[in-house]
Amino acid sequence: MTRSGKLCIGLSLSITWLNGEGWRRPDSDVENIHRAEFYIDIARRAEAAKLDFLFRPDSLFLDASRLSSAPGFSSLDPSLLLTAIAQETQRIGLVSTASTSFYPPYVVARQIQSLNWLSRGRAGWNVVTSMDGSDNFSDQPMLSSAERYARAREFTDVVQALWASYPDEALVLDRANGVYADAERVRPIHHRGRHFSVEGPLTVPTYPSAKIPLFQAGASEWGRDFAARVAHGVFAAAPDIAAGVDLRADLRSRADAHGRDPNDLRVLPGLSLFLGDTESEARDLYAQTHAGQNLQRKQAYVLENLGLDVGPLPADMSITPDMLSKLNRPVRSRTHADLLRRLIERETPTVSELLERPEVSGSAHWLFVGTPQDAAREIARWFEAGAGDGFIALPGGSARSMELLFENLMPHLIEDGLFDADYRGGNFAEHLGI
Ligand SMILES: Cc1cc2nc3c(=O)[nH]c(=O)nc-3n(C[C@H](O)[C@H](O)[C@H](O)COP(=O)(O)O)c2cc1C
Repeated sequence: MTRSGKLCIGLSLSITWLNGEGWRRPDSDVENIHRAEFYIDIARRAEAAKLDFLFRPDSLFLDASRLSSAPGFSSLDPSLLLTAIAQETQRIGLVSTASTSFYPPYVVARQIQSLNWLSRGRAGWNVVTSMDGSDNFSDQPMLSSAERYARAREFTDVVQALWASYPDEALVLDRANGVYADAERVRPIHHRGRHFSVEGPLTVPTYPSAKIPLFQAGASEWGRDFAARVAHGVFAAAPDIAAGVDLRADLRSRADAHGRDPNDLRVLPGLSLFLGDTESEARDLYAQTHAGQNLQRKQAYVLENLGLDVGPLPADMSITPDMLSKLNRPVRSRTHADLLRRLIERETPTVSELLERPEVSGSAHWLFVGTPQDAAREIARWFEAGAGDGFIALPGGSARSMELLFENLMPHLIEDGLFDADYRGGNFAEHLGI
């Protein structure tokens, strides 16, 4: 439960409703996904529905072969996009993604603090270690999860030290005596670490009294430890209620062990929402969206993450844990590989059942298909079971599915007393109670 006892709700701006066949719908507006207006319109509607924040995931590589069937992760720079949105919104939080594996910390510290100014205190930073893209930055392969998070820890320490290096209180602005700033209060950080050497100070002062909330995704042992130390929000892949309960309990106890108040860390499962005015409409939307699903791609995903080739196996054959080989090579995301392994250990699904599951689509998110009213009930069930402190909405199938989130599901959650109907505090951190 969050400090307010209410749900914390974000909307992913990764245009999930255009995935699969969604972009082919006449009303998808797919022509405009690289224009600011497309997102500004969504941001305004999300703000009218009082969502806590917009969340822009990011990737620094492009799998061009996937572009033949859908837009996927072909995307604008998140901080530039959120800056455009900041000009057209007033209260909603704006969480940008920046990779600790590829960017220099000085650039990220500056970018996110600039977004904080340009949004009048509404910036958040989604700290990712990334799954792919190393060959766009050097000849080195991706580091292991353990190494990526060791680097992320130092990176985050440097960014926070840089933010503190130029406090806004240093600005004196005394015209009469010609004192612009108290230079003594703007200090270098002299950081010399294993991964980075950064002198500081930052070129941008802090935005007055607006802390920048940190978000994280990645639930390996190292990812959890990192989140428990620094994150205020975790974007979680939790395909079922038990996965959410386990992850949240574990993160809270780790936060406690690090001397933090566990309520300061909000666990926010991604929630893939296929909404319709009736249940059958929602089911049709789900079926239409996935009609062109690529079986080979799913089989390749299982092989890559579990070392098991399901291609030659009969569709009704059960998969048991003893069929899984020990994979010693690194995987793109330990989180996703572990969720797949867990599914087989708990359910021993048949080959065809396995290939239907969200764990095999690579997102492994909580999936709901139905009416907004039933969605509100299901969300209450997860919340009461302790499977999350809210969620990050991933509307699926069509723009209508997103409209139903804003116009129907959100009012239900407010009516049921699960969600606050207004923004609090003067900035994003205050609104979240940080
Ligand atoms: C739900 C989820 C969302 C993620 N989103 C992003 C993202 O937007 N950009 C990115 O570069 N990496 C993203 N990642 C990758 C993580 O930052 C991390 O590098 C990866 O999961 C490996 O960490 P792990 O071993 O803890 O799973 C995401 C991971 C998960 C589980």
